[in-house]
Amino acid sequence: MSITIKNAQEIEKMRIAGRLASEVLDYITPFVKPGVTTGQLDKLCHDYMVDVQGCIPAPLHYAPPGHAPYPKSICTSVNHQVCHGVPGEKKLKPGDVVNLDITVIKEGWHGDTSRMFYVGEPNIQARRLTEITYECMWKGIAMVRAGAHLGDIGAAIQKYAEMNGYTVVREFCGHGIGEKFHEEPQVLHYGKAGSGPVLEAGMIFTVEPMINAGRRDIRMLGDGWTVVTKDHALSAQWEHTVLVTETGFEVLTLSAGSPAIPAFITAANATPAAVIA
Ligand code: MF3
Ligand code: CO
Ligand code: CO
Repeated sequence: MSITIKNAQEIEKMRIAGRLASEVLDYITPFVKPGVTTGQLDKLCHDYMVDVQGCIPAPLHYAPPGHAPYPKSICTSVNHQVCHGVPGEKKLKPGDVVNLDITVIKEGWHGDTSRMFYVGEPNIQARRLTEITYECMWKGIAMVRAGAHLGDIGAAIQKYAEMNGYTVVREFCGHGIGEKFHEEPQVLHYGKAGSGPVLEAGMIFTVEPMINAGRRDIRMLGDGWTVVTKDHALSAQWEHTVLVTETGFEVLTLSAGSPAIPAFITAANATPAAVIA
């Protein structure tokens, strides 16, 4: 087993899948309002992926070893839910923050991205955690270029999270992605700069830090999927799918509705596609 290097044709397919995943988030944005249920958001996204985009929702019936098949088409993680929240009957209420995680399969290739959404007006703590977590993701992405080490990504994320008083979830990580949903390498969101494999142009993986306002400890709910913080403090996550290039990176999961890219990301280490949303 090793990290696959995608060729030009494969990269083009990943660009398409990545953009489509991001466009699902654009589509669902106006529906994320007080009173909507996470189950309704799942149904809307499912129908958009299948009927409008001609995509397969990758999470539906996804069954990694040791897991029951995932029952829905997207993940909806609310407030203290860390990741893999299963959509259901619960209504979103003003002040909630929710991560919507979308993975599409288009012509056999996967695009995987998530964003945080405010339901009504967030309180100051929720807004700060959401914004710092967004910056954590981009601090990690900014380390990506051929010749860098995989561990540089996690080190940058951990440093920025902890200097802001937050903790990094260790049990879940980013992942290689392509014809498989999850492939090598595992992209840790913590660790040591200079550790791990050397990055090569053509590698594609996600960067998807889960950052907690309280302690880093998590536990799994009885549904076998939903992960929550043990202390019930707030958790946030953002995710992009990223291509390694000779000079830096190209973010594959951008679209018209992607939030502004932080000012510390410059054209010096990103290809134009990553900086023009
Ligand atoms: N999209 C998630 C990720 O970023 C994985 C969800 S697996 C599921 O890797 F089965 F819960 F959908
Ligand atoms: Co992912
Ligand atoms: Co995802």
